[in-house]
Amino acid sequence: MNICVVGTGYVGLVTAACLAHLGHRVVGVDSEPLKVEMLCRGEPTIYEPGLTPLLQDGLRSGRLSFGQDLAAAMAEADVIFLCVGTPPRHDGSTDLSQMEEAARQIGERLRRYKVVVEKSTVPVYTADRMKRTLAMYSGGAVDFDIASNPEFLREGAAVDDFLNPDRIVVGVETTRARDLLLQIYEPFRCPLLVTDVKTAELVKHASNAFLAMKISFINMIADLCEATGTDVQQVADGMGYDRRIGRAFLNAGVGYGGSCFPKDLSAFIHIAEEHGADFSLLREVRRINETRVDRLVRKLHQALWVLKGKRLGVLGLSFKPNTDDIREAPSLTVIPRLRQEGAVVRLYDPHAAVQMASVIPPEPGKVEYARSPYEAAEDAHALVILTEWEEFRALDLEKVRGLLQTPIIVDGRNLFDPAAMAEAGFEYFSIGRPDALRPRQPQAARPRGAP
Ligand code: UGA
Repeated sequence: MNICVVGTGYVGLVTAACLAHLGHRVVGVDSEPLKVEMLCRGEPTIYEPGLTPLLQDGLRSGRLSFGQDLAAAMAEADVIFLCVGTPPRHDGSTDLSQMEEAARQIGERLRRYKVVVEKSTVPVYTADRMKRTLAMYSGGAVDFDIASNPEFLREGAAVDDFLNPDRIVVGVETTRARDLLLQIYEPFRCPLLVTDVKTAELVKHASNAFLAMKISFINMIADLCEATGTDVQQVADGMGYDRRIGRAFLNAGVGYGGSCFPKDLSAFIHIAEEHGADFSLLREVRRINETRVDRLVRKLHQALWVLKGKRLGVLGLSFKPNTDDIREAPSLTVIPRLRQEGAVVRLYDPHAAVQMASVIPPEPGKVEYARSPYEAAEDAHALVILTEWEEFRALDLEKVRGLLQTPIIVDGRNLFDPAAMAEAGFEYFSIGRPDALRPRQPQAARPRGAP
């Protein structure tokens, strides 16, 4: 099938590359010339495991191409996927100006029937507005359909999520649109929900809000575990064996970030209010998440007492592993807090350091960037872990301990076993688990009769 993908951000680029991989002819359109040039050369504009070979194979086979010219890109297309940005406004509602602009431009260039599909996360009723705009700008003479086909891929696992989805949700108004979309997804063997457009729009926001709720829930359980000397991971395991609950997204930590959960949660709260539903439950999910950084900084105080003048190695800047994305990453809040308190930070991330340096630039003697986790640990009073990169799990801990000035690790992602860390000579503070302090030297025997 001939497909046009409008917008080549995370969702658009992965969608375009994966659809070409499935055998469709795909043209990706983007208004940024530098992005298009890079993609045409086979260079991905984002770091995403498995994406480069798909992109390069697609280009080589001629099934995948990129351009800036929307009219040319959509001329042959039967289906147009809209993957443009839907950023938040100041009040938390969704800025749909890119969707509106795409609808206007497509409308003006519509010459024959096409299905225009929302893939970006949008508020319920967006398709209605898109339909009106498309009809207005196409002059009402050309037939088209609007559909919603939300994307559930996770950054860092996007290609695998796209090619092996848990489910596909298709919201349509006509059988013609349904048949075209089902043809695209024909090779997939996962559950398929064919529904109306508004339901499909809601499924996406409801899913992200539910996952964020799971994370805030387990983070509160972590607080309770810290207060009662119990282990949140075991509580999560015990809960997760119940198939109705599931173990996924019950990892306590320094909180969720990224370009989706924080933004989508605020948007969903806003949407609910607009429609007269008081979703204060989600407001609480957001509040709990916002308290996570405070709790981590408190642990640092517990470990180091005063942060002023302390050197801290910070491992992990991206909002999660396997991505270079730092949007709404906990590191963006933690690092300024540490700086405010007068700590000197040395930052390391395998892929997100360049992105972070453009927001928090290096300042000699205050903010430094390390080339390895070991360099970040060198002479530091403590290591702070903010992202669970595999590379950190595989650290040579003996080497790390030797490099640190004081062997303290504050782990916001629960990478290590507390008992093993104590055994290895660390003072180890993690989330929702008992602190691990180094085994003390055996005490001298008390003199007989002493109290
Ligand atoms: C999320 C959803 O998982 C995708 O299904 C959805 O398509 C995407 O948003 C989107 O709307 O585009 P993503 O933001 O890429 O995907 O990342 P997740 O893997 O969901 O992680 C989000 C945040 O939650 C990260 O900061 C992660 O560290 C945190 N998290 C996740 C936890 O703190 N604990 C967990 O148990 C799981």
